[in-house]
Amino acid sequence: MSDLTRFGVSLPTELLEDFDRLLARLGYANRSEALRDLIRERLADEEWREGKGVVFGTITLVYDHSLGSLTNRLLDISHEHHDLIITNLHVHLDYEHCLEVLVVKGKAAEIRNLAGTIIGMRGVLHGKLTLATTGKRLGDTVEKK
Ligand code: NI
Repeated sequence: MSDLTRFGVSLPTELLEDFDRLLARLGYANRSEALRDLIRERLADEEWREGKGVVFGTITLVYDHSLGSLTNRLLDISHEHHDLIITNLHVHLDYEHCLEVLVVKGKAAEIRNLAGTIIGMRGVLHGKLTLATTGKRLGDTVEKK
């Protein structure tokens, strides 16, 4: 648990009002928690951009499994990259569509390449790489009550 530091922030009134409306919609209890989340998200983005060390993430896909070649190719790629894919979740959405979530761990550049290859396959209707981080470098404190 790290120490908390208070600091003042000057914002245009309209920007702050927009921010408060967003926080209310997202269910944040206060601005501090929202700001912490925003800062952590940005720092995690940088961690990924810099490509240092091991990062974590998920690759979420919706695809048409009736294209048999896609299903086989996805399996082949998953085996080729077993070192990057920790686990996966598969949900049969309806007769044609599957949702697949791959949990990945490795160097940022390798994960980006893998995500690009998979998401770019014909028959993938939706694909998104989401970054995650252990947060070790991002501060682990929660506001003291
Ligand atoms: Ni399926």
